[in-house]
Amino acid sequence: MKLWGGRFTEREDEIMEKFNTSLPVDNRLYREDITGSIAHVKMLQECGLLTDAEGETLISGLESILNDIESGELKVEGGYEDIHSFVEMNLTKRIGDTGKKLHTARSRNDQVAVDMRLYAKNKAGEVVNSLQQLIDSLNKKATNNNVIMPGYTHLQRAQVVTFSHHLGAYVQMFSRDKKRVQNAITILDENPLGCGALAGTTHNIDRQITTDLLGFSKSVDNYLDGVSDRDYLLELMSNFSIMMMHMSRLSEELILWSSQEFRFIEMDEAYSTGSSIMPQKKNPDAAELIRGKTGRVYGSLFAFLTTLKGLPLTYNKDMQEDKEQFFDAIDTVIDCLEIMSKMIETLHVKEENMKAAIKAGFLNATEVADYLVSKGTAFRDAHEIVGKLIIYCEEEGKAIEDLTIEELAKFSGDITDDIYEYIDYENILNKGNKKLIKQIKK
Ligand code: ARG
Repeated sequence: MKLWGGRFTEREDEIMEKFNTSLPVDNRLYREDITGSIAHVKMLQECGLLTDAEGETLISGLESILNDIESGELKVEGGYEDIHSFVEMNLTKRIGDTGKKLHTARSRNDQVAVDMRLYAKNKAGEVVNSLQQLIDSLNKKATNNNVIMPGYTHLQRAQVVTFSHHLGAYVQMFSRDKKRVQNAITILDENPLGCGALAGTTHNIDRQITTDLLGFSKSVDNYLDGVSDRDYLLELMSNFSIMMMHMSRLSEELILWSSQEFRFIEMDEAYSTGSSIMPQKKNPDAAELIRGKTGRVYGSLFAFLTTLKGLPLTYNKDMQEDKEQFFDAIDTVIDCLEIMSKMIETLHVKEENMKAAIKAGFLNATEVADYLVSKGTAFRDAHEIVGKLIIYCEEEGKAIEDLTIEELAKFSGDITDDIYEYIDYENILNKGNKKLIKQIKK
């Protein structure tokens, strides 16, 4: 079923019809499409392009379609080319010839542009809320687990940190992600309805009316750009990619930490699965899936960037490809944010194992060097001395703080009893990164 049969004498090939249809993908835009159409009708009415009676008939017809779709009575399917054809043809079926006036002073090009902006704006708002939920879960877990753990560089134990400090790093990442999405929403908040196919319409319409009714901050400034701009989808998908990269890094840490090699955390069974052959295993599938799905979100961004590259102005059918990519990316991101938040909320921290890893990792070696510096040794010499001390500890199977003062003094005459306090892990923490930990607690 088509909206454009007039100029055609031959029937469309069946395979072409199947190839061209977007309804199985854009059916989810029914609400935005109908809301946009109602605003359009109200504007036509106010501008005298429809009588009040026609306007009312159209609006109640559109509302009845929306209600029936939402109640499940009307299924968004069938041989329609796209969601726009589906709504318009069902409208004419319901209200008769007045339905044919709906598309006055409008093209599917500005119609699909307004549908996508409304959808993207609304869904991006959901992403912002889900991000906040994840930030809240991280903050809560951090506050309740202000316990010491090794911090790493090169995946080698490096300095003492706290679990709160570590989770706080992700709070920063997701807070930046939130700002990026909020900024993208501000940029996309312009109304393309009224651009027509590409260069407006000869009818005397008023774009401000639909802009106000649809809650956009302004109308677009350029018609050609208004119908062909999909930057906001790229920008959101790029923000989603960064967000997924952050979630993937966190997933990787959760996977490592829950391994038998680390045993720093235990994931809740609700977010783990078992092995069909090895009864002892508890696999961190949720985190692995998030790490895996990061690839498909990057893929959506690159696929659609590639689609747009080289397109002449204005609308080209290539742009229909925006939907599958954007819908898949946003669905994936929202699911991952929710799962990640629940995983964080329910994971169990194994404080004793984190502490043991600190002791076994000579995580106060830098502080021994700092201690020697405070006593007048040059840092490079102090570094050398501590290197020798570590070799000794490894041979003896002891931590630095477990050596006697006699053993320690063999490495430098400057070492006296006050060293133990200087290299105590909690004291190191208090001196080093306590300020940051307090910030997280707020
Ligand atoms: N399904 C189309 C899309 O998603 C709607 C716009 C069709 N416009 C056109 N001139 N054929 O892009």
